Amino acid sequence: MEKKGISLKTIILFSWPVLLILGLLIWRFSSKGENRAGKKLYQMYCSNCHMEKGEGLRNLIPSLENSSLIDQSPEKLVCLIRNGLDPENPTAQNPNIKLVMPAHPTLTANEITSLIQYLQQSWDSQKPLISFQTVENEINNCP
Ligand code: HEC
Repeated sequence: MEKKGISLKTIILFSWPVLLILGLLIWRFSSKGENRAGKKLYQMYCSNCHMEKGEGLRNLIPSLENSSLIDQSPEKLVCLIRNGLDPENPTAQNPNIKLVMPAHPTLTANEITSLIQYLQQSWDSQKPLISFQTVENEINNCP
């Protein structure tokens, strides 16, 4: 049999380890870099007050780590983020907190989706991640 440069067989034989390593790298980085958009939004709009890990600030800012809203009813976060929250609001978890949370009316449905999904992922919520559709519906019905 005549040799014609690199045969298909050689390519197949030697390419699979390369593909395997490439696949592993892609898998690793995509699971590591999960929801970067949401994290960025959190750092931009929320972590100033609620702190980097959502621990809050004593009786001034509530902890998000312990907020049952994120775990139980993530859809309630939509209007809370859009409209802010004051001490008169029944969703406030800690009655000792007297500060008002500012409204974020410029955040889009897309951004709010990423943001809430990031909170759900970071706090290991058992519920399925909130969908864009749910966020959009909530926004349309915000008070
Ligand atoms: C200027 C400070 C400030 C910023 C910025 C801020 N918050 Fe708040 N947040 C508060 C305060 C103060 C409260 C409590 C208000 C109350 O109880 O009346 C609160 C309450 C909350 C609650 C309700 C917690 C509970 O269980 O009662 C959630 C959830 C929340 N914030 C999420 C966010 C998210 C998400 C962002 C980013 C988009 C954000 N906050 C940005 C100050 C802030």
